[in-house]
Amino acid sequence: MTDDNQKPDWSEEHWREMLVEQRKAMWLDDTIEKLAAWLELRPGMTIIDVGCGLGYLGNTYWPYFGHGGHYVGIDNSDKLVEDAAKAAAVWAIEGKADFVKGDAYQLPFPDCYFDAAMCQTLLMHLEHPKTALAEMIRVTKPGGLIFCLEPDNLSAALSKAHSSLPEFTIEEQLLIAKVNLLSNIGHIKLGRGDISTGAKVTRMMNELGLLEISARLNDRVQLLEPPYETPHQQQLLKMIKAKWFGDERREYWRERGKEEFLAGGGTLAEWEQVVGIGDRMTPVYKQQLTDGEFFLCSGTFFYVVKGRKPVAAN
Ligand SMILES: C[S@@+](CC[C@H](N)C(=O)[O-])C[C@H]1O[C@@H](n2cnc3c(N)ncnc32)[C@H](O)[C@@H]1O
Repeated sequence: MTDDNQKPDWSEEHWREMLVEQRKAMWLDDTIEKLAAWLELRPGMTIIDVGCGLGYLGNTYWPYFGHGGHYVGIDNSDKLVEDAAKAAAVWAIEGKADFVKGDAYQLPFPDCYFDAAMCQTLLMHLEHPKTALAEMIRVTKPGGLIFCLEPDNLSAALSKAHSSLPEFTIEEQLLIAKVNLLSNIGHIKLGRGDISTGAKVTRMMNELGLLEISARLNDRVQLLEPPYETPHQQQLLKMIKAKWFGDERREYWRERGKEEFLAGGGTLAEWEQVVGIGDRMTPVYKQQLTDGEFFLCSGTFFYVVKGRKPVAAN
């Protein structure tokens, strides 16, 4: 299940599926190519991927550094490390890919060992993201790049998507915003990470002495327009339907959300009010999805941040 702190065990079926499904339509193909150039990936590099999960970053960027390269995925889940290694037998060709069990707070490698260090959606789940980032910097060679791909899901939740769902009243929208804000305060207080981490990585990098800090945003739009013709729309639709029709963990999510909202300073009355709004909207949502009438257009806030380790540092 999850640990005492209710942090996800990413090897559990539900979460693993997220590591596969959510990543299928994450990037536009030409974005990957542009990012690979921007991240200065080149054949033969030695790269560590911290919190590698099933090795998504290694697999995605392998064409740019893998030839003659060495990828090391590190994760604190035995099961994910094992499964990622099996999967890599298919994609890690003409180079070396190793998967190691280890802790992001204490990487089992000497100083200045890798040409570059990367992570994706790791820092957002950590209680001490800056400590993990400092470790990534420590194991990178002077002059090497450290890059982090992390979302700011709080800003996404506060932004106004355009969709086919009936408009909430202004009071309801303000309450929903309040719930999102306080829930993340509670999330942080409970040591579960920070869903707005993406926007905070540049500051952490600066405080840790990195140079040439620069950031980009993912250019993918969450777009659904009937008849949902593109593969990306089909994928998004599948994920939304799975969430609304098939998620047996609704109660788990609700309890977790309530705990975080209350820990952040919200009241039970406000929580019950917002649950009521959700319950009112759920059948409308389901009906529109079933009838193929649902539409959505919304931005995402997914940052790619890079910084360079100073040459003078060790
Ligand atoms: C959201 S998943 C991201 C996986 C992968 N980077 C991806 O984008 O598909 C977060 C990963 O970080 C790992 N993780 C969490 N805390 C960790 C820690 N302290 N040390 C190493 N790995 C950790 C989890 O097991 C999980 O695989």
